[in-house]
Amino acid sequence: MTLKTLLSAAAALAITAGVGQAQTVGFSQIGSESGWRAAETTLTKQQAEERGIDLRFSDAQQRQENQIAAIRSFVAQGVDAILLAPVVATGWDSVLEEAKEAEIPVVLLDRQVDSPDDLYLTAVGSDLVHEGKVAGEWLANTVKGEDCRVVELQGTTGSSPAIDRKTGFEQGIEGHDNIEIVRSQTGDFTRAQGKEVMESFLQAENGGQDICALYAHNDDMAVGAIQAIKEAGLQPGEDILVVSIDAVPDIFKAMAAGEANATVELTPNMAGPAFDALEAYWKDGTVPPKFIQTDSKLYTPADDPQGEYESRKDLGY
Ligand code: AHR
Repeated sequence: MTLKTLLSAAAALAITAGVGQAQTVGFSQIGSESGWRAAETTLTKQQAEERGIDLRFSDAQQRQENQIAAIRSFVAQGVDAILLAPVVATGWDSVLEEAKEAEIPVVLLDRQVDSPDDLYLTAVGSDLVHEGKVAGEWLANTVKGEDCRVVELQGTTGSSPAIDRKTGFEQGIEGHDNIEIVRSQTGDFTRAQGKEVMESFLQAENGGQDICALYAHNDDMAVGAIQAIKEAGLQPGEDILVVSIDAVPDIFKAMAAGEANATVELTPNMAGPAFDALEAYWKDGTVPPKFIQTDSKLYTPADDPQGEYESRKDLGY
């Protein structure tokens, strides 16, 4: 019997013995646009299984209307809670009100919404502005007053990480007149679009000769862009500095090869703190804080990128 089977059997026994009821949780996931997203899905499923939670998973394939339909379906099924990773920040009020009326707690994962905060129980995520700021400060400290023309790959338009990571980066470079964002466009958080948009940046910027640094709102877009830089005959990490966000295994691989310079970590384990909060809420009505913040650690080549790659590569990324 494997450890996984043993854990499931123990959870089932606890339920039979009346220790607790199996809770049902609907999870409306954005899709699978990035390695980070895939890891979050894997870890959420694992966490649910370990805790004996019946998880109903819905993949929205990047569309808000699919997420709204999924939430309505979870409400109709009478689930005990809903996890929502919202693709964009606006347009959630009505459906969140429906969940609230049905007394189903909603927990936001990794992205924020613009709705009033009484429409959800709590939000688990990082300080997205801070992440961008850390990236901007890293660049300012690295170029040390040298002129630096930056190209920016933004995340999905209208999503809270795209909005906040842009704001944060601008804060990080504030007061450093030597640094200028010369081009900024969405790459939708995907590797393929990161590459495609970087190719257009390179073309527009004298084959890349006029670009000093790339700031990408996630590692997947950075990995795509690194490929484009190499195909343009330049050395990523040297000719063009690369700073991004997530800390997925592939960016550590690139860092170990000298092709990426810095990443800010976003843990894909949002479900652990979310289920902890829900379990306390179900047990005795404990109301969690509105925001449960995860860490945002900066990694550079000084942090053993090969070791980081090895330790993360099997985590479902
Ligand atoms: O919302 C978190 C972001 O969404 C991650 O940085 C990115 O990789 C993902 O697709």
